[in-house]
Amino acid sequence: MKATDLLKEQHQEVDELFERMERMSQAGGNEIIALRDELVATLVGHAAIEEEIFYPESREALGAYPLIPTSYEEHALVHIMLQKLLSAEPGDESFHARLSVLKELVQHHVQEEEQQLFPKLEGAMGAERLEELGDRMEARFTQVREGNVKAFLTQNVAKSMPAATKGRRTRAAKPTARKAAAAKRPPAKRASTQRAEPARGAQKGRRGAAATTGRKKAAETAPAKSGRAAPARKPSRPAKTTRTGRKGGRSSSASAR
Ligand SMILES: [Fe+2]
Repeated sequence: MKATDLLKEQHQEVDELFERMERMSQAGGNEIIALRDELVATLVGHAAIEEEIFYPESREALGAYPLIPTSYEEHALVHIMLQKLLSAEPGDESFHARLSVLKELVQHHVQEEEQQLFPKLEGAMGAERLEELGDRMEARFTQVREGNVKAFLTQNVAKSMPAATKGRRTRAAKPTARKAAAAKRPPAKRASTQRAEPARGAQKGRRGAAATTGRKKAAETAPAKSGRAAPARKPSRPAKTTRTGRKGGRSSSASAR
């Protein structure tokens, strides 16, 4: 059988399983569990032959065709929903919800394959190659179904989760980034200290000292010029210095002139 015909046949089988399950999803019981397991086995086997054989061959025949990487991502979501469906109790609201989401995912995926990928591939590949591909895929499908399908699904889900692992690493990296930012704080602290000094000066300025700081310095300088060393103690008292500074400032200006 041609690879594309085999896949279409499996798509049809899956569609019928969805319909049967939806009819009885509210009922629960062993029958729906058997249908669920059949759906899981068919979809896991179907995804395996596409991912392992059909998509790589399609990529070789078509080159970089965007639908192929998209299909891998859609399969990853299908696997996750299958795992979630297995963990839900038939008859529960969550079982019906998960079945519904899974069906939408699969139908969307099937539509893309049948309407876009398969016609393009049938045009690019000869019938003989499609037949040979179909035989290999059929054999592998049987092999997967006869193995431990649920364990195979668990492995597929784990493989499809590296993005979540990276996400955790990214979140873990954030504190490191904060640490790196914290490591840069010392210069910032120095900067704030430098800013604090003028602030203290500004505080003095409330009492008019800031405006007289230059005069104060002049007062300190002027006596030195005049040879009187003793007044140097007075500027250490801001209030007195202010008054003295004014006089000193004027006298210093005057003496400077
Ligand atoms: Fe597929």
